[in-house]
Amino acid sequence: MPTVAGMTAVYDRIGVGYAELRVPDPRIARQIVAALGPGTVLNVGAGTGSYEPDSTVAAVEPSPVMLAQRPASAAPAVRAVAEALPFADQQFDAALAVLTTHHWSDPAKGLDELRRVSRRQVVLTWDQDFWTSRFWVLVDYLPEAADREQDLAALRAVSEHWPDAKVEPVPIPHDCTDGFFAAYWRRPEAYLVPAVRTAISGLALLDQGLVEQAMLRLEQDLADGTWAIRHADLLERGSLDCGYRLVVLGD
Ligand SMILES: C[S@@+](CC[C@H](N)C(=O)[O-])C[C@H]1O[C@@H](n2cnc3c(N)ncnc32)[C@H](O)[C@@H]1O
Repeated sequence: MPTVAGMTAVYDRIGVGYAELRVPDPRIARQIVAALGPGTVLNVGAGTGSYEPDSTVAAVEPSPVMLAQRPASAAPAVRAVAEALPFADQQFDAALAVLTTHHWSDPAKGLDELRRVSRRQVVLTWDQDFWTSRFWVLVDYLPEAADREQDLAALRAVSEHWPDAKVEPVPIPHDCTDGFFAAYWRRPEAYLVPAVRTAISGLALLDQGLVEQAMLRLEQDLADGTWAIRHADLLERGSLDCGYRLVVLGD
């Protein structure tokens, strides 16, 4: 059984300053709230409280560093893991899990727990096949990150576990306020900033020597105009499908 202590190490290290760089994006929040529907919400892997609607009555998060960044007004949070939710069967109308399943040590058990404690489940994750074959950071600069992505419990794992779930695309606005991996698809200079990369686990957990070399290549391509020529189409767009997906199951 995964323990709270065993789960905290990663975000106790990379979660410092998370709340400043991972500000929930209002457009993505609207899509999440619509998918949750009416009634009480439990947020699992809740971090600093992003995307918790007012109807959130409880949150679960293993990392003390993340818990400490929750606003005083946020729903009460329990230090626990998705794989062993300390709640009764069907206690909540909906359970929410945003960009967290890929960190769970036993994703199948965590997803079963979401089903056990709620009538409706909403999971935000991403389609690795779509993302790794199209996103310019991975394709042009960091194929090593794409290799790592293949083993993560993202859309493939969630859809295989819940084959009846509905899957909706979540387009990413060009000025997305939540600094996750794809957020800066039209603001390439952002990836050059070390603090920005620390708030993106897909970069922060890679060999930093590789990441720094890749960022030097990106810096060069930005300086000499190569990036702008190669990605001129992106500069015209207001939002982009980067492979992020909302998985919705239940009543
Ligand atoms: C990328 S953050 C997302 C946080 C928040 N949902 C958000 O959208 O900002 C991933 C979170 O999952 C948490 N986490 C890691 N392992 C977990 C587990 N087994 N159960 C629940 N949460 C976990 C991490 O501590 C971290 O806060």
